Amino acid sequence: MKIFITGGAGYIGSHVVKALGEKNHELLIYDNLSTGHDWAVLYGTLIRGDLADLKLLNATLEQFKPDAVIHFAASIQVEESVREPLRYYRNNIANTLNLLHAMESNGIRDFIYSSSAAVYGIPNKMPVVEFTPLNPINPYGASKAIVETMLRNIAGVKDFRYISLRYFNVAGADVKTRIGQAYQDATHLITRALKTAHGEFPKLSIFGTDYPTADGTCIRDYIHVDDLADAHLLALNYLLETGRTEIMNCGYGYGFSVKEVIALAKKVTGIDFTVEETDRRPGDPPELVSNSVKLHRLTGWQPRCDDLEFIIRTAWNWELKYQTIRGHNA
Ligand SMILES: NC(=O)c1ccc[n+]([C@@H]2O[C@H](COP(=O)([O-])OP(=O)(O)OC[C@H]3O[C@@H](n4cnc5c(N)ncnc54)[C@H](O)[C@@H]3O)[C@@H](O)[C@H]2O)c1
Repeated sequence: MKIFITGGAGYIGSHVVKALGEKNHELLIYDNLSTGHDWAVLYGTLIRGDLADLKLLNATLEQFKPDAVIHFAASIQVEESVREPLRYYRNNIANTLNLLHAMESNGIRDFIYSSSAAVYGIPNKMPVVEFTPLNPINPYGASKAIVETMLRNIAGVKDFRYISLRYFNVAGADVKTRIGQAYQDATHLITRALKTAHGEFPKLSIFGTDYPTADGTCIRDYIHVDDLADAHLLALNYLLETGRTEIMNCGYGYGFSVKEVIALAKKVTGIDFTVEETDRRPGDPPELVSNSVKLHRLTGWQPRCDDLEFIIRTAWNWELKYQTIRGHNA
């Protein structure tokens, strides 16, 4: 199958490219390398292009004629989105609109979208099911929810169908340590903890220890990036076989607290890094855990890496390797 992948040089996209490449699909990766890396693209052809460049986008789709599009490219940092909403709306909404226009012009109708648990905001019932009302509380989450609305409207009237995958907390790295999360200013807890263990930050902050959870810290549902990659392949098969538009949560259905993650990060690394307890950050839900029954039921998805210690170990192995890659490129 021929698949066009935006953002395929980024963290999650590169793992999906790997999974699709291992199944011998023909891949074209379209990425401006703003946060992605050419070395992360293990299969297929990489075109360095921006989604804002509608001319290049159209020409590339016209020539490649893909059977489907998987859209990862986006700006993804919540805190940054609060400071720079226009930039987030432009990249995540306007540029997605460009892609959808280019797909329509080229008669491409099958679409997989990277959505996020951030569309739910602060849900009051756990675990979160897909029909929970969307109530994003920051521009990043709003941008993902707005695109979901656009997709629903388009699928209602055009020959267009899609699956929107709402990822919970994506973590871990390639088991063979070839690729992993590779940006220095990562805000994700596991990456941040491991970078602190590595000495890149003097300490790790826990934002809030007075939440209504067992140990007072926030609980999140961490999903290994290779399990998430499998979900994409299965969702794509489901879409092409049934032609049915769906929205599916992607998580394991149970969570770990910040303190539990830190304890495991210390165990895996063998480093007792400094941890500081500070005030809550605005907008952090106490708990965010998925109900992913729909993903299991419709696609047959079965996680292979659902062990937090294993997830952290793959991320740590990658972190150590990534520092040598950075060293070479410095
Ligand atoms: N990482 C997570 O925990 C998480 C959780 C929920 C949803 N998501 C979603 O998953 C997707 C991928 O996230 P990621 O963690 O891999 O981020 P990432 O930053 O590693 O990947 C994004 C990729 O898109 C590229 N890109 C960005 N803007 C572009 C543009 N205008 N034109 C072309 N390429 C562009 C970047 O260079 C990068 O390679 C995003 O849509 C994100 O919102 C991520």
